Amino acid sequence: MTNPLKPLVIGNWKMNLDFVEAVHLGQQIGVLLRHAPAEHTEVVVVPPFVDLRSVNSIVASERIPVGVGAQHVNPHDNGAHTGEVSATMLKRLGVEWVLVGHSERRAMYAMDDVVVAETLRAAVRNGLRAVLCVGEPQEVREDDGHDAYVASQLASALTGLDPKFHELVTVAYEPIWAIGTGLTASTEQVRAMTSHLRSTLARLGLKECRVLYGGSVNAENAASIVAEGLVDGFLVGGASLKAESFLAVVRACDDCYALMANRRS
Ligand code: PGA
Repeated sequence: MTNPLKPLVIGNWKMNLDFVEAVHLGQQIGVLLRHAPAEHTEVVVVPPFVDLRSVNSIVASERIPVGVGAQHVNPHDNGAHTGEVSATMLKRLGVEWVLVGHSERRAMYAMDDVVVAETLRAAVRNGLRAVLCVGEPQEVREDDGHDAYVASQLASALTGLDPKFHELVTVAYEPIWAIGTGLTASTEQVRAMTSHLRSTLARLGLKECRVLYGGSVNAENAASIVAEGLVDGFLVGGASLKAESFLAVVRACDDCYALMANRRS
């Protein structure tokens, strides 16, 4: 099983790149990782549904050391859900990971807390590793309501989840005001929220859960956030669409963890 202490960097390609471009990006990531392996960091790419099969094939045939995930999944296993994709279908394709409750799904596709919880349960029940996304909008942050907001998102998504699936859950804190805006939460804001999330997760029975940060992550801010020992990795959007900028984030994380491993030995 995955070492819970190993950091994780995920590239969320959103609705970008057709399958030819996606394969190309996967191959470029492979070349860069072969040239300079990320020994301490797990790397995952999350292409659009239509690219999953091609990207997975190239990852397998070229032995590229990355996991592959989907951006969303329907909570039902099959049936009359036109346009949707189920966890069983993803598993059959060899997909390992799935984002659950990304703020863009919550805001634009009516994904409320109940649906997020059902989706999370369907994902892990089918053996997918789920990245549960939480984060507050700007006005909630301005009113100082962010701690309560994300605690409630976590509680409604995780309450009642069979503890045998806890090891399949990763949490990504993505303040909505920082996604795609060029604004990043300050190191202090990430520190406070990360420790709040960790204690909330522990109360909910998840003691060894990776907590990622997402929201306009790039190599520079990733290096300063990870150096504080605050997070177990990153969920990267815009910067994951180019192999060099994505690998720069991976590298920032990996260098920091290599240093920590050296200090320990
Ligand atoms: P961003 O997106 O890095 O472009 O802000 C992050 C995300 O939405 O996961």
